[in-house]
Amino acid sequence: MHKRIRFILAAFNLLYSAAAELVSRNSSYSLHGAKRMQGGLHLPLSRRLIPKRIALNADTGVAGLGDFFDVTYSVLIDIGGTTLPVVLDTGSSDLWVLSNTCQGTCSSANTTLYPPNTFHDMGLDATIVYGDSKTGTYARGIIGYDAVSLAGLTLQDQYFAAINDTNTSVVQTRCSGIFGLGFPLNSVIWTDMFLNQRQQKRRTTTSSAIISSFGVSGPFIPRLASLGGLASPMFAIALQRDTIEIGGNEGMLSIGGLPPGVQNESLTWVPVRKYTLQQDGLTQDTSLEAYPIAWEIPVDDVFLDGVKLPRSQLSSSNISLSALIDTGNSLIRGPPDVISYIQNMLGGPHFACSISHTLAFQIGGRMFPVDPRDFINQVRSGNAQVCGANLAQTDVPVLGGGGYLYSWSLGDPFLKGVLAAFYYGSFTELSQDPPRIGLLSTVPSDAGQRLEDAISAASEEQYDLPG
Ligand SMILES: *[C@@H]1O[C@H](CO)[C@@H](O)[C@H](O)[C@H]1NC(C)=O
Ligand SMILES: *[C@@H]1O[C@H](CO)[C@@H](O)[C@H](O)[C@H]1NC(C)=O
Ligand SMILES: *[C@@H]1O[C@H](CO)[C@@H](O)[C@H](O)[C@H]1NC(C)=O
Ligand SMILES: *[C@@H]1O[C@H](CO)[C@@H](O)[C@H](O)[C@H]1NC(C)=O
Ligand SMILES: *[C@@H]1O[C@H](CO)[C@@H](O)[C@H](O)[C@H]1NC(C)=O
Ligand SMILES: *[C@@H]1O[C@H](CO)[C@@H](O)[C@H](O)[C@H]1NC(C)=O
Repeated sequence: MHKRIRFILAAFNLLYSAAAELVSRNSSYSLHGAKRMQGGLHLPLSRRLIPKRIALNADTGVAGLGDFFDVTYSVLIDIGGTTLPVVLDTGSSDLWVLSNTCQGTCSSANTTLYPPNTFHDMGLDATIVYGDSKTGTYARGIIGYDAVSLAGLTLQDQYFAAINDTNTSVVQTRCSGIFGLGFPLNSVIWTDMFLNQRQQKRRTTTSSAIISSFGVSGPFIPRLASLGGLASPMFAIALQRDTIEIGGNEGMLSIGGLPPGVQNESLTWVPVRKYTLQQDGLTQDTSLEAYPIAWEIPVDDVFLDGVKLPRSQLSSSNISLSALIDTGNSLIRGPPDVISYIQNMLGGPHFACSISHTLAFQIGGRMFPVDPRDFINQVRSGNAQVCGANLAQTDVPVLGGGGYLYSWSLGDPFLKGVLAAFYYGSFTELSQDPPRIGLLSTVPSDAGQRLEDAISAASEEQYDLPG
């Protein structure tokens, strides 16, 4: 989650040096195990294990760091000839990597650092902020460009930030940076570049200048899409539990199309929220009335074990219920009062692991359950009996507050049980081809039984659940 950015009218000159190369690529190129197939590129995700938050351990006072694991998902990206694992983040819109000039925090980094030999420094600072009011982190560095490749798709002059100061958990995950897959308007790098150009050119801006700048300084995938380099302006992510067998156990990122064998009609498609001027979504430019800024979709209602949960009393009922779909979030975050309500229904912060609970989000009229196995985490080392829920409280939306309007952030526990397709739509003809998200549940109908089996197996063997 980012701090909301401000928009100022500006002008931009365009350079499309990469477009021709992109469009001319053919179907047999592969990099880092990625396969280019008809209708898209498909590459495996790698799972990174990081120690649980210290807060959880302080809460229980028992588990040592490293006994249990949070999970982040990463892909390999190539920048200036260096291969770097980066965290896949649909909740932000910037690409950054740790520079080898980074000291302090980076001295403990057990990962490849980016050598900025081929970095074209723009002399612009970037500070990218993550999290909510309680869990804020930052990454600071310099904006520049270099050749960036993902799955054999290369953009020669892709802007990103070479970071030399951060307190994000990226260093602990043994990743080298974050790969934001959100919309250009939410990109700190795009905004900084745009404002800088405006100062230099002193021109007024049209919405078309804003939109065409996406093809220059936009984030990697939206930029590819806006340059016409993708068969379809979309990507899809499948984390674990992909019962439709699309990428082994670790998941897959597909760019430019759905994963092989998945039919569009089998997904439930819902529109992405657009923000109006009143909601601080975009500029004074009235020709663009509303624009998407995050992968945020409407939620009909939320259910626990089949019972509809009350709506939060902490935010205006005039804000329609919505959720951010966020691969960069290892939990399910929601309104404090509703999260407390769920904890009470579960009988407190800790409960028996063997009793399966199903938290489900009704989206587009269909139920999307969190797999009971992904809903819980074991709180005590060597004891597969006591569990907690993978839930956390987050800030509530405020009408006219200039922030996001979503109440829920659905992270990896949700995404492990769903195939999610993120469709940018048309950047120029937004109303004719609007952005949307398609979801397909992959939670097996006997998930609760599978949880109980896993618990009893783990208990007999004295194993931890992650084991
Ligand atoms: C496709 O790309 C491969 C590898 O780059 C190349 O060997 C092949 O000749 C290309 N085929 C066509 C039809 O361009
Ligand atoms: C660094 O990571 C490698 C595996 O990627 C591991 O073998 C090694 O022990 C790690 N070193 C430290 C100091 O954690
Ligand atoms: C990161 O730094 C910011 C600013 O100093 C601070 O507010 C935040 O709590 C820090 N976060 C962590 C996880 O250390
Ligand atoms: C980061 O890089 C910038 C520009 O090279 C430099 O001014 C700054 O001191 C560096 N910060 C750290 C913490 O190394
Ligand atoms: C998938 O199908 C739905 C309904 O059939 C359609 O509205 C949507 O545009 C399609 N999505 C994509 C990405 O083609
Ligand atoms: C909510 O909407 C109603 C009806 O449009 C309006 O009367 C009320 O003032 C709104 N409340 C807030 C907090 O905006």
